[in-house]
Amino acid sequence: MILVTGATGTIGVEVVRQLAERGEAVRALTRDPAKARVPEGVEAVRGDLRDPDSLRAATAGVTAAFLLRPPGPDEGQDTAVVAAARAAGVRRLVKLSAVGTGEPALGPFGRWHVEGERAVRESGAEWVVLRPSTFASNTLSWAGAVRAGEPVPNMTGDGTSGVIDPRDVAAVAVRALLDGRHAGRTYTLTGPAAISLPDQVAVLASVLGRPVTARNLSPDETRGFLRTAWGFDDAQAEAVLLSTAFVRDGGNAVVTADVPEVLGRPARAYREWAQAHREAFSAG
Ligand SMILES: NC(=O)c1ccc[n+]([C@@H]2O[C@H](COP(=O)([O-])OP(=O)(O)OC[C@H]3O[C@@H](n4cnc5c(N)ncnc54)[C@H](OP(=O)(O)O)[C@@H]3O)[C@@H](O)[C@H]2O)c1
Repeated sequence: MILVTGATGTIGVEVVRQLAERGEAVRALTRDPAKARVPEGVEAVRGDLRDPDSLRAATAGVTAAFLLRPPGPDEGQDTAVVAAARAAGVRRLVKLSAVGTGEPALGPFGRWHVEGERAVRESGAEWVVLRPSTFASNTLSWAGAVRAGEPVPNMTGDGTSGVIDPRDVAAVAVRALLDGRHAGRTYTLTGPAAISLPDQVAVLASVLGRPVTARNLSPDETRGFLRTAWGFDDAQAEAVLLSTAFVRDGGNAVVTADVPEVLGRPARAYREWAQAHREAFSAG
């Protein structure tokens, strides 16, 4: 039995789908099983990373677990789920972390997964750490602006990232869950190229067959945008500003061969993701 946490989110849905497709026994953790849509044969169980009792029940009888936490500071959630998994005898842990983890210049975002990585490495279980780069799916947040013909906000200038398709992150996670040869590895998962926001905008324009534009935001405009559009407080906005400066200054311009090494094929390009999601950006 494989437990998938974060099973209803961007990566988790794909991990569950790909495991189920292979005929694996899967348990999908969610705070609300009544709302979760899981493939046939998958067991949706109630669990909350902030509720250790629920984690004890969810990990019973599990052999391998995919550990994904929602974005944000850890606050003991990773340690709690690792402790529950070990108490239940789970033998293999695959932890979703993030590129740049432990990098001081990244600010608070660089600290979100430090404790969780340590917890799985010191757990005594077989462990794999996955550090994906920026998800291609983050650009779904532009869909409203693109549909309305408005510019998308650019907080990272010409800084590049190894943008990765969530399906590839999930595919690597599935290999790591099923194959012990990945034990002890920390993979930095990227797409095939380091691309900037203007590069992504140009790909979207080409896929949609109409103009898509971007507007550079100054740090002050970024603060204002984060407050009004995303409801961020000052501390959250300052954390975003540090991370966007990190990207703008080239800190995230990382491309690795880890996806092709694990999957035996090239990583998917942003264009492929955009083609699969063109509907989201199309009016009507
Ligand atoms: N976006 C990026 O570019 C990027 C890049 C690198 C790494 N990451 C990392 O990826 C992770 C986010 O992955 P994602 O985008 O797939 O997540 P997501 O789409 O935001 O989904 C979050 C998931 O967490 C679950 N969840 C939320 N609070 C929970 C709680 N208290 N207890 C149990 N489950 C809870 C939600 O399930 P329910 O609501 O059903 O309970 C949902 O399945 C973060 O750790 C982030 O640091 C993101």
